[in-house]
Amino acid sequence: MTLARARLGVNIDHVATIRNARGGAHPDPARAAAAAQAAGADGITIHLREDRRHIRDADLAAVRNAVKLPINLEMATTEEMLAIALDFAPHAACLVPERREERTTEGGLDVARLHDQVAPIVAKLRDKGIRVSLFIEPSKVQIAVASAMGAPVIEMHTGKYVELVFAGDKAAAAEELKRLQEAAAYGHERGIEIHAGHGLTYDTVHPVAAIPEVRELNIGHFIMGEALFIGLDAAVKRMRHEIDIARGLA
Ligand code: PXP
Repeated sequence: MTLARARLGVNIDHVATIRNARGGAHPDPARAAAAAQAAGADGITIHLREDRRHIRDADLAAVRNAVKLPINLEMATTEEMLAIALDFAPHAACLVPERREERTTEGGLDVARLHDQVAPIVAKLRDKGIRVSLFIEPSKVQIAVASAMGAPVIEMHTGKYVELVFAGDKAAAAEELKRLQEAAAYGHERGIEIHAGHGLTYDTVHPVAAIPEVRELNIGHFIMGEALFIGLDAAVKRMRHEIDIARGLA
C-alpha cells in the first residue's frame, strides 16, 4: 500500500549545542539548515529554549535567511516566547513543555491540565496566521482538548515508544505503537493534522511513518549524531528515504 508522502522536519538544535560548547560561531546552525534543505528536508525545526542552551535569539533570523523552507519554532507556553513568536512569525509554532532541569523535552504538554494557560496562546498565534501545533502524548483526552482549543495540528510524542523499543520490551512497545496509531486516527477524524517526533532513528521511524494519518515527522538528535559519521547530507537523505520506504513510496 502506498500512502501520501510525509514531510521531514529536520531539527538543527544540536548544531547549536556543539557551537555553544566552545562559545564561538562554529558550527553554524544556519549552515546546517541550508545543508538540510539541499539534502531534501521539507522544513527546519528549531527550539528556542528559555535558557538558550542551544538555539539563541539571533539564530532565528539567521536560519530564516539561510533557507526557503518553512520554519517550525518549538516554544514553551510563556509570555516571553509568545512575544518572540508573534514578532518572528514562523510558518509554524509547536508548543512544548519545558523544565530547565530536563535534558530534552520529556513527555508531552499536558493541555488538559494547562488548558487556561495554553488556549490563549493558541488563539494569539492563530490570529497571527501561524500554524499551531501542540506536542502531546498520544492520548484521546489530550487530543480532544487540543481539538476544542482549535489547534490545527498535534505532534505526538514518540519518545516513550522509542525508549521501549531500545529497552527490548516488545510487548510494551507494541502497546505504545497502538496508542500512537489510535491517537492518530482519533485526531484525524476530528480534522487535526497529525505530526510525530522525538527520539526517532532510522529503525524506529518506520512504524511511526507507516501510520497513515502522520503527515510530518520532526527529527533532530539522531540525524545530527549520524552526521558526525556520514555527513549531514547523507544522514538527511537516508532518513528521508526510510520515511519513503515506510510509506510504500520507495
Ligand atoms: N519534536 C519536538 C516537539 C521536540 O521537542 C523535539 C526535540 O527538540 C523533537 C521533535 C526532535 O526530537 P529528537 O531531537 O529526539 O529527534
